[in-house]
Amino acid sequence: MRVVSGIQTTGNLHLGNYLGAIKQWVAMQDAMQPGDDCLFFLADLHALTVAQDPKELADNTIGMAATLLAAGIDPDRSILFNQARVPAHSELCWLLMGTARMGWLNRMTQWKDKAGKNREGASAGLFTYPVLQAADILAYKATHVPVGEDQKQHLELARDIATKFNTDTGVELFPLPDPLISAAAPRIMSLRDGTAKMSKSDPSDMSRINLIDDDDTIAAKFRKARTDPDPLPDSFDALEGRAEAKNLVTIYAALADATPQSVVEQYAGQGFGTFKPALADLAVTVLGPIRDRLTRLLDDRDSVSAALAKGAGRATALAAPTLRSAQEALGLQV
Ligand code: TYM
Repeated sequence: MRVVSGIQTTGNLHLGNYLGAIKQWVAMQDAMQPGDDCLFFLADLHALTVAQDPKELADNTIGMAATLLAAGIDPDRSILFNQARVPAHSELCWLLMGTARMGWLNRMTQWKDKAGKNREGASAGLFTYPVLQAADILAYKATHVPVGEDQKQHLELARDIATKFNTDTGVELFPLPDPLISAAAPRIMSLRDGTAKMSKSDPSDMSRINLIDDDDTIAAKFRKARTDPDPLPDSFDALEGRAEAKNLVTIYAALADATPQSVVEQYAGQGFGTFKPALADLAVTVLGPIRDRLTRLLDDRDSVSAALAKGAGRATALAAPTLRSAQEALGLQV
C-alpha cells in the first residue's frame, strides 16, 4: 500500500482538515505494514496558484508541517516533506499536461468556484492545479489517497489522467489511486453557515476552529456557532434539514470516535445550551494537547525544517524511477 496526500499551505489548519484528512493520515501511518509507505506533503506549489507573500508562504509551510507533527505524523515512519523541494512533482506535472484535456479541467468545481466570473484574470496555475495534484499522486504510484469529500473530483481527474496516459503510451505505468474519504467527517461545515464547508479561506475566523486556537477561543467559537432553538432528537436522521445542528453532532461524533446516532441518543431532548459546552469541552480535550505540542514546535523551526529536508530526500528517491519511466514512455530518454 502506498498512501499519498497533501495540504495546501495557505492559512491555518482547521478542524475540517484535521477530522477530514489528518486524523486518517495518522491512523494509516499507525496501521502501516512492512513494505507500505505513507507520504504526506505540504502543497506549497499549489499555494502559488494565487498571489502569495513569500515570507508568509514560508511561515505557513513551516507552521503546517509543525501542525502535522503535533497531530501525530511521525517523520521517521511517514515521509513528510514540502512539494517544492521535490522537483519530480513539477516535472511530472508538465509531462501530464499533454494528457489532461481542457474540457476535463473546465468541469472542475474548484476552478469554477475560485475563478468565479474572472476566468480571464485567473492564473494559468489555478486552471491546471489538478494536473499538479495528479502528478503529486502518480509520481509515487499511490494506491490510496486519504482526503475530504471536496477533493473527490480532483481524485477522479487523477484517475482519468492515469488511464489516458497508460492507454496513449501503451505502458501500464500508473496504478489507479483510490480515494479514501473519511466516513466520520467527509465534510465539516462552517460554524456560521451549515451549507458552506469549513475553509481556510473563509474571511470569518469564527467560522472555523483553527488547530492553533487556545481553549477559550475554541469554547467561544462553539458557544457562538449558529444553531436552531430546537432540542436534539433521538435519531440522527431526524436532523435532516437542520444543517448547523447536524454539523455540530458530526463534529462531536468524529472527535469522540463515536457514531452520530450514539451522540444524539446521549443528548436527546437537550438543547444547544447543554450540547455546545459539552462539545467545547470535548474539543479542548482532543485539540488542546495538539496545540500545546504545536506551540513548542513553532519555537523550534529548525527541527521542523530538518524533518522536511529528510522527507524530501526520501520522496525524491521514491519518485525517481517513476519519473524516468514516464520520460521513457514519452520518448524523452535519448
Ligand atoms: P486542502 O489544503 O484544501 O485540504 C487538505 C485536506 O483537508 C480536507 N478538508 C476537509 N475535510 C472535511 N471537511 C472540511 N471542511 C475540509 N476542508 C478541507 C481536504 O479534503 C483535504 O484532504 N488540493 C488539495 C491538496 C493537495 C492534495 C494533493 C491532496 C494537493 N495535492 C494530492 C491529495 C493528494 C487541497 O487543497 O486540500
